[in-house]
Amino acid sequence: MADAKSETQSSNQMWGGRFASGPDAIMEEINASIDFDKKLYAQDIRGSIAHATMLAHQGIISSEDKDKIVAGLETVLKEIESGAFEFSRELEDIHMNVEARLANLIGPAAGRLHTARSRNDQVALDFRLWVKEELQKTEQMLTALIAAFLDRAEEHADTVMPGFTHLQTAQPVTFGHHCMAYVEMFGRDRQRVRHAIEHLDESPIGAAALAGTGFPIDRHMTAKALGFREPTRNSIDTVSDRDFALEFLSIAAIAATHLSRLAEEIVIWSTAQFGFIRLSDAFSTGSSIMPQKKNPDAAELVRAKTGRINGSLIALLTVMKGLPLAYSKDMQEDKEQVFDAAESLELAIAAMTGMVRDMTIRTDRMKAAAGSGYSTATDLADWLVREAGLPFRDAHHVTGRAVALAEQKGCELAELPLADLQAINPAITDKVYGVLTVEASVASRTSFGGTAPSGVRQQIAWWRTRN
Ligand code: ARG
Repeated sequence: MADAKSETQSSNQMWGGRFASGPDAIMEEINASIDFDKKLYAQDIRGSIAHATMLAHQGIISSEDKDKIVAGLETVLKEIESGAFEFSRELEDIHMNVEARLANLIGPAAGRLHTARSRNDQVALDFRLWVKEELQKTEQMLTALIAAFLDRAEEHADTVMPGFTHLQTAQPVTFGHHCMAYVEMFGRDRQRVRHAIEHLDESPIGAAALAGTGFPIDRHMTAKALGFREPTRNSIDTVSDRDFALEFLSIAAIAATHLSRLAEEIVIWSTAQFGFIRLSDAFSTGSSIMPQKKNPDAAELVRAKTGRINGSLIALLTVMKGLPLAYSKDMQEDKEQVFDAAESLELAIAAMTGMVRDMTIRTDRMKAAAGSGYSTATDLADWLVREAGLPFRDAHHVTGRAVALAEQKGCELAELPLADLQAINPAITDKVYGVLTVEASVASRTSFGGTAPSGVRQQIAWWRTRN
C-alpha cells in the first residue's frame, strides 16, 4: 500500500490524470466512504472475479491477465478477512482500495480489470448483492420468529384472555388466536421480503458509467455467474436505481412497526396491573435503586429501534427524491442507512424471538381478566337473536340494560338472577347461562378466522405446512 499512498499525495491514483493537486482534507473527509463501504468487500471481489472472467471469455483481456487478476483478488480477500489489509481513506472507497492493492500485488494487469466497467455499475452490483443476502437472512429470521409464535399458539389454543379494542375489554379470545395474529403479520413481512428478492434479482454489472459499453461484453454470463436471474435492461436506470435499498428499508420499517406493536403489548402485559406474562430473566433487567423491579428493557429497545429504522427509510427517500438521472454522488449516502437498519432489524427480530420463546404465560390472570368488563355481552345479544328471535338492534338494547343492572349490583352478567334478566326481557330462559362463560364464548366463534380453539388449530396447521 506504501506506493499507493505516495502516488495519491499529489492526485488520486485511480482518477487523478487531469488533476494537478490532491484534495483538501475536508474534501477527503466528505468524499471517502471506505469507513462504511468496506462492508461490501466480499461482494466487490466476487463481482470483479465474475467481470474479469467474462472479459477473458469474450477475448477482451488475455486469459493470463485474467488468471493474475483472479489470483490477486483472492489474495486481497484473504488479507481483508485476516485483518491484514490496510484500508486507505485517500483511496475513497472499497472499489478503489481493492483495485489499488491488486495493482500492488500483480502490477499492470490490474489496470485491465476496470475495462468496460465503471464504479457506478460496480457499486450498484456490490450493494445489490449485499441487500439480497441481507433479505435472505431476514427471511430466515422471520421464519424462526413465526415458528416461536406457532409453538406458543399451539400450547395456548384454549387459553382464554380478554380481546381488546381501544385497549378496552371487548370480547374473550384465546391467547393462541392472539399469537396467530402476529404470525399473519410476520408472514406478510416475509412475503414482502420474498417479493423484494425477486424484484432485485437482476444484474447491474455492464451498465458501465451510464450508457453501456462498446466492448463486446456478455452481461448474461456475469448475471449467471453472480446468481442473478438476468441482467437489467436499461443502463441509465441501472446506475441510478436504488429501489432495492428503498424496498429493503420499507420492508424493514413495516416489520419493525409490527415488532414495535408486539413490544408494546409485552410491556403492557408484563406490568403488575395486567400480569398476563412474566418475562424470563434472560430478557429483562433490574433497577439499580428499586430492588423489586424487573424491567422489559429488551421490548422497550425493540420499540425504540423502530424509530431508527423508519428514520433510515425517510432519509434515503429524501436523498433520492431530487436526483436527476443517472448516478449522483448523493447516492453514496444509501449505504449507512441500509446497514444501520439491517443491524437494528436483525437485533429486534432476534430479541423478540427470544422473548416469545421464553416468556411465561399466566393463564390464571388471563382467564380472570377475560371474564371481567362484561366481555360476554355480545354473546348475550347473539343468544337473544338466535333463541328469542329478537332483531339484533333490540337484542343490543336489552343486553345494554342487563349490563347496566349488573354494574349497579356490582356483579358479572352470569351472576344476575334469572328473574332479573326476565324482568328486562321475558323471553330469556336459564339456557342463556350456557353462553355467558368465556369458554363458551370463544368456543362459539367458529366462523372462518375466528377465535374458537378448533379454528385456531386449523390455522396453526395451515401455517405449519408453510413455515
Ligand atoms: N463510493 C461510491 C458510492 O458509494 C462509488 C461510486 C462512485 N462513482 C463515481 N462516479 N464517483 O456511490
